[in-house]
Amino acid sequence: MKKGIYTVAENRLIARDVYEMRLAGEDPGFTAPGQFLNIKLEGFFLRRPISVSDWDETGATVIYKVLGAGTETMTALPVGTELDVLTGLGSGYDETKSGKRPLLIGGGVGVPPMVRLCRDLLAQGKDPTVLLGFGNAGDIFCAGEFLTMGARTLVYTADGSAGRQGLITDGIGELEGYTYFYACGPTAMLKAADAVLRSDGQYSLEERMGCGFGACMGCTIQTRNGPRRVCKDGPVFSREEVLW
Ligand SMILES: Cc1cc2nc3c(=O)[nH]c(=O)nc-3n(C[C@H](O)[C@H](O)[C@H](O)COP(=O)(O)OP(=O)(O)OC[C@H]3O[C@@H](n4cnc5c(N)ncnc54)[C@H](O)[C@@H]3O)c2cc1C
Ligand code: FES
Repeated sequence: MKKGIYTVAENRLIARDVYEMRLAGEDPGFTAPGQFLNIKLEGFFLRRPISVSDWDETGATVIYKVLGAGTETMTALPVGTELDVLTGLGSGYDETKSGKRPLLIGGGVGVPPMVRLCRDLLAQGKDPTVLLGFGNAGDIFCAGEFLTMGARTLVYTADGSAGRQGLITDGIGELEGYTYFYACGPTAMLKAADAVLRSDGQYSLEERMGCGFGACMGCTIQTRNGPRRVCKDGPVFSREEVLW
């Protein structure tokens, strides 16, 4: 974990209620996609945890959806705002397990961690398929980025207003030959996906967080290996560990 002051370098709307924010500053110290940062906002006691979608030695990028007062406040932060941010948090996806043809599954705000994961896997010579699920056409973001990277990208919308009509689970059911999976999204989606996935893989789980770095136990969940803290032992857990 690192603590730093980061400057908002970009904060723009990229889909309905979804913003991309670039935080410029020191090296955030991330080591794997699926890790997250925790932003302190003026007037809020608890920090807001957000997955890192990409990073380099000059800062990090996050993609967030407006859910409540904290994320609403974030939308109004102008370029130049300085923020107190904890970075390099949690354990991310293990890329060494991917095999040749990994499947990347992102639902809604579960899509951001897949951006860096996909880039890394392509750089390693892997052949990823990216499966994205959204409510409707106005909710879609990042699909073009995956296509530009050269990844096979399938978009599903619940109402059929863009891409293929259906749920992400429909897409999983139609795919064969993937060697491993990496998934992130709402718990209900992950649980439904688990019923149709046919390989080993890893899930990124979400839990309400207090400290975000393993000290308060507030994010503890039960797993097959006993109680685990989502913020420190996760948020990424292997398929065999997760109890739905
Ligand atoms: C590891 C992790 C990664 C995440 N990555 C992303 C991301 O990439 N993009 C994104 O849009 N959202 C992400 N979230 C969810 C994000 O943290 C919440 O949407 C946000 O904290 C809501 O804050 P709020 O003040 O707008 O909402 P409020 O509901 O007003 O928040 C009240 C309190 O509940 C907490 N809280 C509310 N919802 C969640 C939630 N789903 N998970 C954890 N804490 C929550 C808040 O942090 C705050 O302490 C992530 C959550 C976790 C745990
Ligand atoms: S949020 Fe404090 S231990 Fe996880």
